[in-house]
Amino acid sequence: MTEVMEPTLTPDSSAGDATWWRQAAVYQIYPRAFADADGDGIGDLPGITAHVPYLRELGVDAVWLSPFYPSALADGGYDVDDYRDVDPRLGTLDDFDALVAALHDAGIKLIVDLVPNHTSDRHVWFQEALRSPKGSPARDRYIFRDGKGPDGAEPPADWQSVFGGPAWEPVGDGQWYMHHFATEQPDLNWKNPEVRADFLHTLRFWSDRGVDGFRVDVAHGLAKDLGEELPSQAELDATPRDGNHPLWDRDDVHDIYAEWRTVFDSYDPPRTAVAEAWVAADRRARYASAHGLGQAFNFDLLEADFDAGQFREIITFNLELAETSGSSTTWVFSNHDVVRHATRYGLPPRGTGAAGGDHTAEKQGKRWLLSGGTEPVLQRELGLRRARAATLLELALPGSSYLYQGEELGLHEVADIPDESRQDPTFFRSPGIEIGRDGCRVPLPWTREGASFGFGAGPADLPQPDWFGDLAVEVQEQDPASTLALYRRALALRRELQTDETMEWHDTGRDDVLAFRRPNGWLSVTNFGDDVVDLPAGEVLLTSAPLDGGHLPGATTAWLRV
Ligand code: GLC
Repeated sequence: MTEVMEPTLTPDSSAGDATWWRQAAVYQIYPRAFADADGDGIGDLPGITAHVPYLRELGVDAVWLSPFYPSALADGGYDVDDYRDVDPRLGTLDDFDALVAALHDAGIKLIVDLVPNHTSDRHVWFQEALRSPKGSPARDRYIFRDGKGPDGAEPPADWQSVFGGPAWEPVGDGQWYMHHFATEQPDLNWKNPEVRADFLHTLRFWSDRGVDGFRVDVAHGLAKDLGEELPSQAELDATPRDGNHPLWDRDDVHDIYAEWRTVFDSYDPPRTAVAEAWVAADRRARYASAHGLGQAFNFDLLEADFDAGQFREIITFNLELAETSGSSTTWVFSNHDVVRHATRYGLPPRGTGAAGGDHTAEKQGKRWLLSGGTEPVLQRELGLRRARAATLLELALPGSSYLYQGEELGLHEVADIPDESRQDPTFFRSPGIEIGRDGCRVPLPWTREGASFGFGAGPADLPQPDWFGDLAVEVQEQDPASTLALYRRALALRRELQTDETMEWHDTGRDDVLAFRRPNGWLSVTNFGDDVVDLPAGEVLLTSAPLDGGHLPGATTAWLRV
């Protein structure tokens, strides 16, 4: 018996390229950790360009490039000094143009990261605001308030930043500015017309250079309505996020994205966007509206355990949700903010209290973070085995899959970075509580040997562990059973098999085995349990681990043609 799911919107073939994003496999590059062409220990744009053949062979449809703009790296580049330039350590605008050309020649689209919630404190606007008096137009581009007490020595409110510590910082004249994230990331005032106009300019600047789309950072944070009397943190926490919260997920944020849509649609094909919006699932469709950004990240699978029941519920829910916005859904297991999924799946499930230093969901971002001491409880092989099974399931689903650099090598989180080498502000702002996100941002290993395993000519600025060499691209290319070989084969098959956005569940008779059909006779079966189970009849196209006498072992996915 099969349970039929209604088809989601089918891409219109007459629109050609305009729908490329709906079922794209998008590969996230964290530029400082991908490839270092000039040997300064930091990855750069020419390093990426040199590896376009690798991306082509991997078989991805698009690259999402995390920030590459001038930045003091107070938050890994999410503190932007200038939105329309390239960090000199990463290259030049000419290098950027060369990268776009090389990707496009290889048939790969490019999505760039846009960080509109805050600038860096080195941005010309913020520097001008610091030099300008209270009440000036320069200060109005940010969120300044008078401090409390006779000389303004007390913060205007007791708000906590997402990264820990206070969210208000004094500037020395009785005024304070607001920052949701690090002190070096002052929040912009999106009620200010100049701020709005400038971002339209930035969207055009990169679109004119051939960028195909944008990933929008903290998309649920831009619109704010603070009024004169600021609420307390306790009051903020008690206020429902129903579209009227003073700080998060306000309905009027979509007025901003409607303006952006007119820019996106003035290009042919229209530029795309995907929202990073940590909002309640039933509010996500607003960000994915065709009148706004068009697509939104769904982090539900990323937050789930390796569990058939959770996966099935999340998949069904999100495919239905995508229908309500007319967008396609997105799937993500790993990115630059979370512990790599090979590692998460090797740790005890949440809530068991079994992990030495447990992994907890961060307050605001609900991100998985290791808090140290997890190595003894980490089952590395099981984690990777499950990650491979989960990824094969993901790549068979309708919608877009966002893959994070290094997951195609089966990399684990690097847990043991010395404190003096850590860079993530969450580590410094929450001493002893969070170890931060550096463990998934360690530079990639390309070769077995070498100062930085082929990442660059010298050592990498974030130290790589010795075990990286065995997982290098060069090593995995020689091994047909490697994780890299699995990703390449899966992405190639996906291109061949993926047609419309329909899927239907296939009854397996077991709670711990999930199967679904796609058009073209494509059937994906995942065994989440421990028992070896029978496979439906059909031609086996690909498996995430070897079959056991023709049967499907635990923590394994098989693709069949039936
Ligand atoms: C987003 C980014 C994260 C960054 C934060 C502040 O959540 O993904 O890396 O720290 O925004 O810009």
